[in-house]
Amino acid sequence: MTERFSYTLNATDGRARTGVINTPRGDIRTPAFMPVGTAATVKAMMPESVRATGADILLGNTYHLMLRPTAERIDRLGGLHKFMNWDRPILTDSGGFQVMSLAELRKLTEEGVTFKSHIDGSKHHLTPERSMEIQKLLGSDIVMCFDECPALPASDEDVRKSMELSMRWAQRSRDAFGDRPGHALFGIQQGGVTEELRGISAEKLREIEFDGYAVGGLAVGEGQEAMFGVLDYAPDMLPKDKPRYLMGVGKPDDIVGAVARGIDMMDCVLPSRSGRTGQAWTRRGQVNIKNARHSDDPRPLDEACTCPACSNYSRAYLNHVFRSHEMISGMLITWHNLHYYQELMQGMRDAISAGTFEAFQAEFHATRAMGDI
Ligand code: GUN
Ligand code: ZN
Repeated sequence: MTERFSYTLNATDGRARTGVINTPRGDIRTPAFMPVGTAATVKAMMPESVRATGADILLGNTYHLMLRPTAERIDRLGGLHKFMNWDRPILTDSGGFQVMSLAELRKLTEEGVTFKSHIDGSKHHLTPERSMEIQKLLGSDIVMCFDECPALPASDEDVRKSMELSMRWAQRSRDAFGDRPGHALFGIQQGGVTEELRGISAEKLREIEFDGYAVGGLAVGEGQEAMFGVLDYAPDMLPKDKPRYLMGVGKPDDIVGAVARGIDMMDCVLPSRSGRTGQAWTRRGQVNIKNARHSDDPRPLDEACTCPACSNYSRAYLNHVFRSHEMISGMLITWHNLHYYQELMQGMRDAISAGTFEAFQAEFHATRAMGDI
């Protein structure tokens, strides 16, 4: 077991990259997809099942865990890994983004953000320093800077001001994080869809120096074309020898497009959340299992998939348990979705290593264009 955090770039194919992040809790193969375990669980999945899908790392949330059960309680109980029975790496988001999307009565100042809990209305304060403290109490392996993400569309002036505040918070996060061997701190680039602002943000983050760099402020309503527009230049503004993480993305085609543009890590609630609403993702696109056309169908979701849902159950069964509100419905479709996502990542890692990523992308899009069986 290595005791340090490091990143090794193993191969590139066009702008796509494959490598490994070494951490004391295990290696993270990149490009990596991180399932979201917001409240110390990937909903509907046992941790060993999440691992069985191929996940090397999970994402947890400062915002949710600070409110319930609180970071201090998790610390007293031995840290987040022990608490949720996941001993591999965990990345935690820093809270600011979730405050802006979930909390009530938010008040933003230079110091930080004050808000009311969406759970019980209690009042809380989050600053870069407090976010670093919480993420340390949780025992997070990859800590994210405390930042602010403006909702798009926003004026250039508002995006600039917000980005500049996030960069001051990035410096405060760096100072508060200190020196923690084996743990990493990632900076978060902001700047909306403006190349100049993205450049200024990247320059500032590089000057501060981080163990990895995230592209933030995307997938907030700008659409895939605008997001890819930013990804055509943003990853190249960040150091080549450090991992690059695109926050909160995305659908399978977003992920393939992001990897093609030099992204190494991603997270999204989509495969787990849509698993609970009967939406499956397969090689051939999206399948809505509650549709009546599946009710007599003895075939699996995807005959080529080796997940438990596809190996052992028919579409008719999945349709039945979804309509009956049975818990196994969310369990099986979430498992399938996470398995599909991880298989997609493995396919991309293999293709980048082999120098066949162009062909991989063509095959990916051609298979989806065929539509569901
Ligand atoms: N999740 C998705 N986008 C963002 C972002 O811009 N910042 C943070 N902290 N988390 C995110
Ligand atoms: Zn499957």
